[in-house]
Parts: sequence; C-alpha cells; structure tokens
Amino acid sequence: MLFEHLQPYPGDPILSLMDKFTSDPREEKVNLSVGFYYDENGKIPVLDSVREAKRRADARFTQTNGYLPMDGASDYCRAVQQHLFGMQNNPETIATIQTIGGSGALRIAADFLYSADYGGEVWISDPSWDNHQAIFARAGFTVKRYPWLNASADDIDFPALLQALQGAAAHSVVVVHACCHNPTGFDLQENQWDALFELCRERQLIPLLDAAYLGMGNGFAQDVRAVRKLVARGTTGLVTNSFSKVFSLYGERVGSLSVVCANRTIADNVRGQLKATVRANYSSPPRFGAVLVSEILNDEPLRQVWQEEVELMRERIVSMRQGLHTRLSELAPQHSHDYLLRQKGMFSFTGLSPEQVRMLREEYGVYIIGNGRLCVSGLNQHNLDIVARRIAAVL
Ligand code: LMR
Repeated sequence: MLFEHLQPYPGDPILSLMDKFTSDPREEKVNLSVGFYYDENGKIPVLDSVREAKRRADARFTQTNGYLPMDGASDYCRAVQQHLFGMQNNPETIATIQTIGGSGALRIAADFLYSADYGGEVWISDPSWDNHQAIFARAGFTVKRYPWLNASADDIDFPALLQALQGAAAHSVVVVHACCHNPTGFDLQENQWDALFELCRERQLIPLLDAAYLGMGNGFAQDVRAVRKLVARGTTGLVTNSFSKVFSLYGERVGSLSVVCANRTIADNVRGQLKATVRANYSSPPRFGAVLVSEILNDEPLRQVWQEEVELMRERIVSMRQGLHTRLSELAPQHSHDYLLRQKGMFSFTGLSPEQVRMLREEYGVYIIGNGRLCVSGLNQHNLDIVARRIAAVL
C-alpha cells in the first residue's frame, strides 16, 4: 500500500515538548523549553511598540490585501538592511528578501545555495539548534559538525573549531550563530570572528550568520557586530534573521535573508534567484508581520520605544541568570554555576545529562530540552526558587 513504508514521526526535540507540557496536569509545572520570551508574569508579551504599529496598520489594512512581491515588501527590506547593516543608504551589493521567519530564511538560503552549485557540505556547530541540521539535510546537503564546546563544556574550543573547518571542502557553507548561540549561550570574541572570516576567505568557505536574537545578548550594538564585520571585510556570505523573539511576534513569521555579494551585478542576479526560489516554495511571503516591523523600524520615535522594550527584556534575562546563579550556588555549592553568568541570551546550556533532564521533567514538572538547554526567559520571581531547588535535587 502507498505510504506503508513510512515510519512514525518521533516529534521535534524542541516543539514536541510544548505538547507534553500543555497536557501535563500538574499545577506546579514550569516550562523552560521552547525559545519564547516570557515576561515576569509568565506571559508572552505584546510590546507597546507593536500594539501602536498594529493600531496604525489596522487603519490602513482595508486599502489593499493583494499578494506581496516574491521578495516581500520593499519598505520592509529597506528597513531590515538599514537595521542589520547600519547604512543610511541601502547597500547595492546586498540582496535582501523578506522570509517566513528565520526558518524560512534558512530554507530559502539552503535551496538557493544548492541550486547555485554550492550544495555540497554544510558545517554546523556541535551542538546547535536542531533545525539547522534538518533544514540543510532536507535541502540535499551533507551535514558536517564542527566542535563548539571544550571538554568541560564551559567555553568555546576555538582551536578545535578552526582545525575542523580547515578540513572543509571549498565552497562549503559554515553556519554560525551571530550572537546568543543556541543552545549554549557562548559567543565568539571579536578576534575569533576575524580569524573565522579569514579562514573562510582562505579556504573559500561561505559563512552564514544566523541572527535570531540581536539585542538579547549584550545589547544590539554589540550583538550585531559579527554581521557588520562580515560586510566591512568584504566577505561574501549570508545573513538569516528572525524578528520572532525581539518583536515578540512569533506567530507572524517575520524574517529576512540577505546575501552579501562582491558587486551590484552579482547582487541583482542573486536577488533574482532568491525570488525564483521563493516562487517555487511558497510564492510570496505573508504581509501583516512585515507591516508591523516595517512601521516600527521606519519611524524613529516608535523604533526608540521598541529598542527600550528589547533592552528591558534583555535586562530581565540577565537578572534571572543572576538569580538562578545565586540560588544554585547556595543549594549546590559543590558545583560551579558560573556558566550562567558567562553565557548570553535566552538560553543556558546546563550540562545536565539526558537522565537528569528526564528526572526534572517526570518527577518535578520542570521542562527543559533533552540536550540540557534551559530557556532562561521562562524564569520569573515566582518560579525561580522552585526551579533552583529542583535542579539542585537532580545534580
Ligand atoms: C527554540 O530554539 O526553542 C526556538 O527557536 C523555537 C524553535 O523553532 O525551535
């Protein structure tokens, strides 16, 4: 019978935990799994800047609801370019399109690279966000892993990373998190980015910076540095970007893909091929989320309101890191918890084993990802102490 050979889908390692959490009847359960930013009351916030942009957009929405172009709304793409690359005049050598979130950007990037004959190897950090591997494998790439953490899992093993990439075939794609590495929270230093880009140049590798958390690590100016360094060095590469987290607009699926090219003619041709890739995938992106983001990025006072809101989210994450560090240091002084203070962004890599993660979930109702990743922004003053006690209990 047709389709009889298909195996049951074991579920996504991140998203399936949401279903498990929802059906868990225990009242004291805590969700620290999927990468959502929750506020102090445990809610996914609607930002004031987004509320205002919605009000303005609603007033206009009846005017038109035709298809967007294949590459998305032009005012959105212009605003994204200025935001990411920091240039007043839009760079003619960068082809930017609107995408369906960060995952859509990665899939279009993968399909585009594959059809441009750069579909051999993709190198992804070990560990990384699980979907990196899934997206590139489905697009036909051979997935290779470069080491990310040292043996004690408390910092990046940069020499090992460079050594692995020395062995990459020419024109391999190298996926790196631009900031707030998911799942570890450890980011490259300025000189390490330089060395990585230099290696890419020497060995003709294609860097792809995945930027889903700009502003949530050390603040936007610092978080965007790797992206801007790529452009400043004249390195050809790709930037995928998600606005889900920083605008708290998860369901609207707002993202972008930029290809940094050597000259304008190449960029024009790349843009054309990106459009062709979109057309063959989903024809054109949805409108509403891009209208909201564009309204905010293109209006200086509203943009400032938004930037302050991102900063508040970032500061709350930092204070939760500090709070968990303090409580764990009291409850389990035999272990060092300093990694919590050195990691950046929404996620913390706890080093908990799959068995400890299972115990946390099954015995105590605390949900974290199987690889030991904990979503720090799911913590708040109400659950911090109980989470610390339960982690200490499984250590
Ligand atoms: C995460 O890493 O939890 C988020 O980016 C959500 C997802 O799509 O996996």
